[in-house]
Amino acid sequence: MSVRVGIIGGTGYTGGELARLLVGHPRAEIAWVTSRSRAGWPVSSLHPNLRGFTDLKFVAPDDVEPVDVAFLCLPHGQTAGNIERYTQLAERVVDLSSDFRLSDAELYEATYGEPHPAPAWLDRFAYGLPEVYRDRIRGSKLVSGVGCNATAVNLALLPLARAGVIERVVADVKVGSSESGAEPSGSSHHPERSHAVRTFAPTTHRHEAEIRQALGDFDLHFTGTAIELVRGVLATCHVFVNRDLTDRDLWGMYRDAYAAEPFVRVVKERRGLYRFPEPKIVAGTNFADVSFVAEEGSRRVVTMCAIDNLGKGAAGSAVQSMNLMCGLEETDGLLFPGLHPV
Ligand SMILES: NC(=O)c1ccc[n+]([C@@H]2O[C@H](COP(=O)([O-])OP(=O)(O)OC[C@H]3O[C@@H](n4cnc5c(N)ncnc54)[C@H](OP(=O)(O)O)[C@@H]3O)[C@@H](O)[C@H]2O)c1
Repeated sequence: MSVRVGIIGGTGYTGGELARLLVGHPRAEIAWVTSRSRAGWPVSSLHPNLRGFTDLKFVAPDDVEPVDVAFLCLPHGQTAGNIERYTQLAERVVDLSSDFRLSDAELYEATYGEPHPAPAWLDRFAYGLPEVYRDRIRGSKLVSGVGCNATAVNLALLPLARAGVIERVVADVKVGSSESGAEPSGSSHHPERSHAVRTFAPTTHRHEAEIRQALGDFDLHFTGTAIELVRGVLATCHVFVNRDLTDRDLWGMYRDAYAAEPFVRVVKERRGLYRFPEPKIVAGTNFADVSFVAEEGSRRVVTMCAIDNLGKGAAGSAVQSMNLMCGLEETDGLLFPGLHPV
């Protein structure tokens, strides 16, 4: 049995990454990929890494037949108004945008500055972070993606949140350029973006709301900085905890939280270059590498998480959710170990 899938918004970066993962998936088959601007063009003309892997051509969004699973890869605000139509197209839907991540309409309005266009649908979506919501995703027909920055912060903090030790967090998040999508802008223009170390969000970021929703309402401060990377997010979280903790205590918490997780690796080596998580090591994968260090003589714990924003931060997690929703092996199509050197 093969799951037939469709990708809405397939010329973009998350759509391309989904197509890459799905052409190698043992139990899924891509039925169509949509584009308004490139209908009729080969999918591989926009995603040249797929040459020889698919003969599919982009089709117009109105020109598609029903499938088992539809992935929605549209810019923020473009999904919610059409959600009825998308749910008629597919029995199961995974929406990668931020339209259905928050389950509360007031919180959505406070976060995004406008009323939600389809508030009745909000609590029908499971938040697609399997490490927290695996059972809900399994039983759900509608799953939202997780913000890529939120994924990195969520996974850096989850064991401490579960242990109830967080008093305050300063999450310093460094991001690659593909995070802002394929649509060019002034800030993505090569002479401006290349070699940047540019703080774009010194305080507050929309993803704070979904992090609090997933982990609990602690004191959270976010800073976002664009750095010289195409793929990748590194979250470095300065966590001020409510009791004395040692590395040994933290090993216990991180092992308990992640020993059975197929895509979270605790990385804390004594030797070598790669002693802590680094985005380039997880580029192209669905892995989240996490780590922690307790600062001696203080109650600061530094936790880290590296992901590929297009992988575990978007398309990888979306396929992981599809696997859970459809009763497939959770790791199907996702066990690429990455590249080294890269
Ligand atoms: N990039 C990341 O790292 C990342 C990570 C996590 C989540 N996300 C979220 O995932 C979503 C997609 O991100 P992306 O980076 O892939 O964006 P993108 O590169 O800008 O691609 C957007 C796609 O949507 C299509 N599109 C735009 N407006 C549309 C509409 N009204 N109806 C139908 N199709 C439309 C575009 O193609 P046509 O114009 O040809 O139709 C394009 O294929 C966003 O909501 C983003 O916030 C992105």
